[in-house]
Amino acid sequence: MRLATKVAIVTGAARGIGEAIAKRFAEEGARVVVTDLRETGEDTAKAICDTGGEAVFFKCDVSQAEEVRNLIAFTIEKYGKLDVLCNNAAVNIPGSVVDLEEEVWDRTMEINVKSMFLTGKYAIPEMIKAGGGSIVNMASANSFVAEPLLSAYVASKGAILMLTKQMALDFAQNNIRVNCICPGWVDTTFNDAHAELFGGREKVLESIRDIQPIGRTILPREIANVALFLASDEASAMTGSAVVPDGGVTAK
Ligand SMILES: NC(=O)c1ccc[n+]([C@@H]2O[C@H](COP(=O)([O-])OP(=O)(O)OC[C@H]3O[C@@H](n4cnc5c(N)ncnc54)[C@H](O)[C@@H]3O)[C@@H](O)[C@H]2O)c1
Repeated sequence: MRLATKVAIVTGAARGIGEAIAKRFAEEGARVVVTDLRETGEDTAKAICDTGGEAVFFKCDVSQAEEVRNLIAFTIEKYGKLDVLCNNAAVNIPGSVVDLEEEVWDRTMEINVKSMFLTGKYAIPEMIKAGGGSIVNMASANSFVAEPLLSAYVASKGAILMLTKQMALDFAQNNIRVNCICPGWVDTTFNDAHAELFGGREKVLESIRDIQPIGRTILPREIANVALFLASDEASAMTGSAVVPDGGVTAK
Protein backbone atom coordinates (compact mmCIF):
# COMPACT_ATOMS: atom_id res chain seq x y z
CA MET A 1 0.00 0.00 0.00
CA ARG A 2 2.47 2.59 -1.24
CA LEU A 3 -0.16 5.36 -1.45
CA ALA A 4 -2.11 4.54 1.72
CA THR A 5 -3.72 7.71 3.16
CA LYS A 6 -2.99 9.68 -0.05
CA VAL A 7 -5.54 11.57 -2.13
CA ALA A 8 -4.74 11.71 -5.85
CA ILE A 9 -6.14 13.42 -8.95
CA VAL A 10 -5.46 11.77 -12.32
CA THR A 11 -6.40 13.78 -15.42
CA GLY A 12 -7.30 12.13 -18.72
CA ALA A 13 -8.21 8.97 -16.81
CA ALA A 14 -11.18 7.79 -18.91
CA ARG A 15 -8.93 5.51 -20.95
CA GLY A 16 -5.37 4.63 -21.91
CA ILE A 17 -2.44 5.49 -19.66
CA GLY A 18 -4.53 7.71 -17.34
CA GLU A 19 -6.98 4.88 -16.69
CA ALA A 20 -4.07 2.54 -15.86
CA ILE A 21 -2.54 5.14 -13.51
CA ALA A 22 -5.84 5.75 -11.67
CA LYS A 23 -6.29 1.98 -11.18
CA ARG A 24 -2.66 1.47 -10.09
CA PHE A 25 -2.87 4.34 -7.57
CA ALA A 26 -6.10 2.89 -6.16
CA GLU A 27 -4.55 -0.60 -5.88
CA GLU A 28 -1.91 0.98 -3.66
CA GLY A 29 -4.44 2.60 -1.34
CA ALA A 30 -4.98 6.07 -2.81
CA ARG A 31 -8.39 7.70 -2.90
CA VAL A 32 -8.56 8.77 -6.54
CA VAL A 33 -10.38 11.59 -8.28
CA VAL A 34 -10.70 10.32 -11.85
CA THR A 35 -11.11 13.23 -14.20
CA ASP A 36 -11.61 13.58 -17.95
CA LEU A 37 -13.61 15.41 -20.61
CA ARG A 38 -15.21 12.08 -21.46
CA GLU A 39 -18.11 10.83 -19.37
CA THR A 40 -16.61 7.33 -19.68
CA GLY A 41 -14.28 8.40 -16.88
CA GLU A 42 -17.21 7.22 -14.78
CA ASP A 43 -16.38 3.64 -15.90
CA THR A 44 -12.81 3.95 -14.60
CA ALA A 45 -14.07 5.13 -11.19
CA LYS A 46 -16.70 2.37 -11.11
CA ALA A 47 -14.14 -0.32 -12.00
CA ILE A 48 -11.95 0.88 -9.11
CA CYS A 49 -14.85 0.84 -6.64
CA ASP A 50 -16.02 -2.59 -7.90
CA THR A 51 -12.63 -4.05 -6.99
CA GLY A 52 -12.62 -2.60 -3.48
CA GLY A 53 -10.85 0.70 -4.15
CA GLU A 54 -11.96 4.27 -3.55
CA ALA A 55 -12.54 6.58 -6.51
CA VAL A 56 -14.92 9.20 -7.80
CA PHE A 57 -15.36 10.71 -11.27
CA PHE A 58 -15.37 14.47 -11.85
CA LYS A 59 -15.87 15.74 -15.40
CA CYS A 60 -13.39 18.49 -16.28
CA ASP A 61 -11.81 20.10 -19.31
CA VAL A 62 -8.34 20.73 -17.93
CA SER A 63 -7.72 23.61 -20.33
CA GLN A 64 -10.47 25.72 -18.68
CA ALA A 65 -9.54 27.66 -15.54
CA GLU A 66 -13.00 27.63 -13.98
CA GLU A 67 -13.35 23.86 -14.45
CA VAL A 68 -9.91 23.21 -12.96
CA ARG A 69 -10.71 25.43 -9.98
CA ASN A 70 -13.91 23.41 -9.47
CA LEU A 71 -11.97 20.13 -9.75
CA ILE A 72 -9.59 21.11 -6.96
CA ALA A 73 -12.43 22.48 -4.79
CA PHE A 74 -14.40 19.25 -5.32
CA THR A 75 -11.38 17.15 -4.28
CA ILE A 76 -10.85 19.12 -1.08
CA GLU A 77 -14.56 19.01 -0.25
CA LYS A 78 -14.75 15.25 -0.91
CA TYR A 79 -11.49 14.02 0.64
CA GLY A 80 -10.22 16.96 2.73
CA LYS A 81 -6.78 17.29 1.10
CA LEU A 82 -4.71 16.68 -2.03
CA ASP A 83 -1.38 14.80 -2.02
CA VAL A 84 -0.82 13.69 -5.62
CA LEU A 85 -1.61 15.39 -8.91
CA CYS A 86 -0.99 13.41 -12.09
CA ASN A 87 -1.28 15.67 -15.16
CA ASN A 88 -1.85 13.09 -17.88
CA ALA A 89 -4.52 14.49 -20.25
CA ALA A 90 -3.33 15.44 -23.73
CA VAL A 91 -4.18 15.47 -27.42
CA ASN A 92 -2.01 14.47 -30.36
CA ILE A 93 -3.09 15.98 -33.67
CA PRO A 94 -0.47 15.50 -36.39
CA GLY A 95 0.75 18.01 -38.95
CA SER A 96 3.72 20.12 -39.95
CA VAL A 97 3.64 23.83 -39.13
CA VAL A 98 2.43 24.42 -42.69
CA ASP A 99 -0.40 21.87 -42.56
CA LEU A 100 -1.66 22.44 -39.03
CA GLU A 101 -4.53 24.87 -38.48
CA GLU A 102 -3.72 27.69 -36.07
CA GLU A 103 -6.68 26.68 -33.88
CA VAL A 104 -5.26 23.15 -33.57
CA TRP A 105 -1.90 24.55 -32.46
CA ASP A 106 -3.61 26.76 -29.85
CA ARG A 107 -5.89 23.99 -28.59
CA THR A 108 -2.94 21.56 -28.31
CA MET A 109 -0.98 24.06 -26.23
CA GLU A 110 -4.03 24.75 -24.05
CA ILE A 111 -4.78 21.10 -23.34
CA ASN A 112 -1.22 19.76 -23.11
CA VAL A 113 0.65 22.66 -21.46
CA LYS A 114 -1.64 25.40 -20.13
CA SER A 115 -3.58 22.69 -18.26
CA MET A 116 -0.47 22.03 -16.14
CA PHE A 117 -0.18 25.74 -15.34
CA LEU A 118 -3.84 25.77 -14.28
CA THR A 119 -3.82 22.59 -12.20
CA GLY A 120 -0.62 23.77 -10.51
CA LYS A 121 -2.10 27.19 -9.84
CA TYR A 122 -5.06 25.76 -7.91
CA ALA A 123 -3.59 22.51 -6.53
CA ILE A 124 -0.29 23.75 -5.12
CA PRO A 125 -1.81 26.06 -2.44
CA GLU A 126 -3.78 23.02 -1.18
CA MET A 127 -0.63 20.85 -1.17
CA ILE A 128 1.19 23.52 0.80
CA LYS A 129 -1.63 23.46 3.36
CA ALA A 130 -1.30 19.65 3.57
CA GLY A 131 2.47 19.92 4.18
CA GLY A 132 3.63 18.81 0.72
CA GLY A 133 2.77 16.72 -2.30
CA SER A 134 3.86 15.10 -5.52
CA ILE A 135 3.07 16.30 -9.05
CA VAL A 136 3.64 13.86 -11.91
CA ASN A 137 3.47 15.40 -15.38
CA MET A 138 3.11 13.23 -18.48
CA ALA A 139 5.74 14.34 -20.98
CA SER A 140 7.06 12.07 -23.76
CA ALA A 141 10.15 10.74 -25.50
CA ASN A 142 9.22 13.65 -27.79
CA SER A 143 10.38 15.97 -25.00
CA PHE A 144 13.89 14.95 -26.16
CA VAL A 145 13.58 13.81 -29.77
CA ALA A 146 11.32 15.17 -32.51
CA GLU A 147 9.29 13.20 -35.05
CA PRO A 148 8.13 14.16 -38.52
CA LEU A 149 4.66 15.73 -38.87
CA LEU A 150 4.04 16.22 -35.16
CA SER A 151 4.81 19.92 -34.70
CA ALA A 152 2.35 21.05 -32.01
CA TYR A 153 2.61 17.84 -30.00
CA VAL A 154 6.42 17.75 -29.95
CA ALA A 155 6.56 21.46 -28.99
CA SER A 156 4.05 20.89 -26.18
CA LYS A 157 5.98 17.94 -24.76
CA GLY A 158 9.25 19.91 -24.86
CA ALA A 159 7.53 22.66 -22.88
CA ILE A 160 6.27 20.18 -20.26
CA LEU A 161 9.81 18.99 -19.57
CA MET A 162 11.01 22.51 -18.75
CA LEU A 163 7.83 23.50 -16.88
CA THR A 164 8.39 20.42 -14.69
CA LYS A 165 11.92 21.52 -13.81
CA GLN A 166 10.82 25.12 -13.28
CA MET A 167 7.96 24.22 -10.92
CA ALA A 168 10.26 21.84 -9.03
CA LEU A 169 12.55 24.78 -8.20
CA ASP A 170 9.74 27.07 -7.04
CA PHE A 171 8.18 24.59 -4.62
CA ALA A 172 11.03 22.39 -3.38
CA GLN A 173 11.06 24.32 -0.10
CA ASN A 174 7.37 23.49 0.35
CA ASN A 175 8.05 19.75 0.20
CA ILE A 176 6.32 19.55 -3.18
CA ARG A 177 8.09 17.37 -5.74
CA VAL A 178 7.45 17.85 -9.47
CA ASN A 179 8.67 15.20 -11.91
CA CYS A 180 7.75 14.05 -15.39
CA ILE A 181 7.50 10.77 -17.26
CA CYS A 182 8.70 10.52 -20.87
CA PRO A 183 7.22 7.36 -22.43
CA GLY A 184 8.02 5.87 -25.81
CA TRP A 185 5.23 4.30 -27.92
CA VAL A 186 2.54 3.03 -25.57
CA ASP A 187 -0.19 0.72 -26.81
CA THR A 188 -3.24 3.05 -26.86
CA THR A 189 -5.18 4.67 -29.71
CA PHE A 190 -3.38 7.97 -29.06
CA ASN A 191 -0.90 7.63 -31.97
CA ASP A 192 -3.34 6.26 -34.57
CA ALA A 193 -3.89 9.55 -36.46
CA HIS A 194 -0.13 10.08 -36.72
CA ALA A 195 0.43 6.45 -37.80
CA GLU A 196 -2.18 6.92 -40.58
CA LEU A 197 0.21 9.38 -42.25
CA PHE A 198 2.77 6.56 -42.51
CA GLY A 199 0.52 3.77 -43.84
CA GLY A 200 -1.48 2.96 -40.70
CA ARG A 201 -0.85 1.40 -37.31
CA GLU A 202 -0.26 -2.18 -38.58
CA LYS A 203 2.26 -1.01 -41.17
CA VAL A 204 4.14 1.12 -38.63
CA LEU A 205 4.15 -1.80 -36.19
CA GLU A 206 5.98 -3.91 -38.79
CA SER A 207 9.03 -1.71 -38.25
CA ILE A 208 8.65 -1.40 -34.47
CA ARG A 209 12.22 -2.65 -33.90
CA ASP A 210 13.58 0.30 -35.88
CA ILE A 211 11.42 2.70 -33.87
CA GLN A 212 11.57 1.25 -30.37
CA PRO A 213 14.58 -0.97 -29.57
CA ILE A 214 12.67 -3.29 -27.19
CA GLY A 215 10.74 -4.39 -30.30
CA ARG A 216 7.23 -3.92 -28.91
CA THR A 217 4.88 -1.23 -27.76
CA ILE A 218 4.79 -0.40 -24.04
CA LEU A 219 1.78 -1.36 -21.88
CA PRO A 220 -0.12 1.43 -20.08
CA ARG A 221 0.51 -0.40 -16.80
CA GLU A 222 4.28 -0.16 -17.34
CA ILE A 223 3.91 3.63 -17.37
CA ALA A 224 1.52 3.49 -14.40
CA ASN A 225 4.22 1.72 -12.38
CA VAL A 226 6.58 4.66 -12.99
CA ALA A 227 3.84 7.15 -12.04
CA LEU A 228 3.25 5.18 -8.84
CA PHE A 229 6.92 5.36 -7.91
CA LEU A 230 7.12 9.12 -8.53
CA ALA A 231 3.86 9.74 -6.66
CA SER A 232 4.98 7.70 -3.65
CA ASP A 233 7.34 8.61 -0.83
CA GLU A 234 9.86 6.14 -2.35
CA ALA A 235 10.82 8.96 -4.73
CA SER A 236 11.33 11.42 -1.84
CA ALA A 237 14.70 12.68 -3.14
CA MET A 238 13.48 13.21 -6.70
CA THR A 239 12.26 16.53 -7.99
CA GLY A 240 12.71 18.19 -11.37
CA SER A 241 13.51 14.80 -12.86
CA ALA A 242 12.47 13.19 -16.11
CA VAL A 243 12.02 9.43 -15.98
CA VAL A 244 12.20 7.86 -19.43
CA PRO A 245 10.36 4.53 -19.87
CA ASP A 246 10.76 4.67 -23.66
CA GLY A 247 11.81 1.17 -24.68
CA GLY A 248 15.17 2.59 -25.72
CA VAL A 249 13.88 5.22 -28.18
CA THR A 250 16.10 8.03 -26.91
CA ALA A 251 19.15 5.78 -26.53
CA LYS A 252 19.62 5.92 -30.30
N1 LIG B 1 0.41 6.56 -26.14
C1 LIG B 1 1.68 6.89 -26.31
O1 LIG B 1 2.41 6.29 -27.11
C2 LIG B 1 2.28 8.00 -25.48
C3 LIG B 1 3.66 8.21 -25.57
C4 LIG B 1 4.23 9.24 -24.84
C5 LIG B 1 3.44 10.03 -24.01
N2 LIG B 1 2.10 9.79 -23.97
C6 LIG B 1 1.31 10.68 -23.10
O2 LIG B 1 0.52 9.93 -22.22
C7 LIG B 1 -0.67 10.65 -21.91
C8 LIG B 1 -1.89 9.76 -22.12
O3 LIG B 1 -1.89 9.27 -23.44
P1 LIG B 1 -2.78 8.03 -23.89
O4 LIG B 1 -1.97 7.26 -24.84
O5 LIG B 1 -3.36 7.36 -22.72
O6 LIG B 1 -3.93 8.79 -24.72
P2 LIG B 1 -5.53 8.61 -24.72
O7 LIG B 1 -6.01 9.41 -25.88
O8 LIG B 1 -5.88 7.18 -24.65
O9 LIG B 1 -5.97 9.32 -23.36
C9 LIG B 1 -5.95 10.71 -23.20
C10 LIG B 1 -7.13 11.12 -22.34
O10 LIG B 1 -7.07 12.54 -22.16
C11 LIG B 1 -8.41 13.03 -22.23
N3 LIG B 1 -8.42 14.45 -22.59
C12 LIG B 1 -8.11 15.03 -23.77
N4 LIG B 1 -8.33 16.35 -23.72
C13 LIG B 1 -8.77 16.63 -22.46
C14 LIG B 1 -9.15 17.82 -21.80
N5 LIG B 1 -9.13 19.00 -22.42
N6 LIG B 1 -9.57 17.74 -20.52
C15 LIG B 1 -9.61 16.54 -19.87
N7 LIG B 1 -9.26 15.38 -20.46
C16 LIG B 1 -8.85 15.43 -21.74
C17 LIG B 1 -9.06 12.18 -23.31
O11 LIG B 1 -10.48 12.25 -23.23
C18 LIG B 1 -8.48 10.80 -23.00
O12 LIG B 1 -9.31 10.08 -22.11
C19 LIG B 1 -0.64 11.90 -22.77
O13 LIG B 1 -0.11 12.97 -22.01
C20 LIG B 1 0.34 11.54 -23.88
O14 LIG B 1 0.97 12.67 -24.43
C21 LIG B 1 1.49 8.81 -24.68
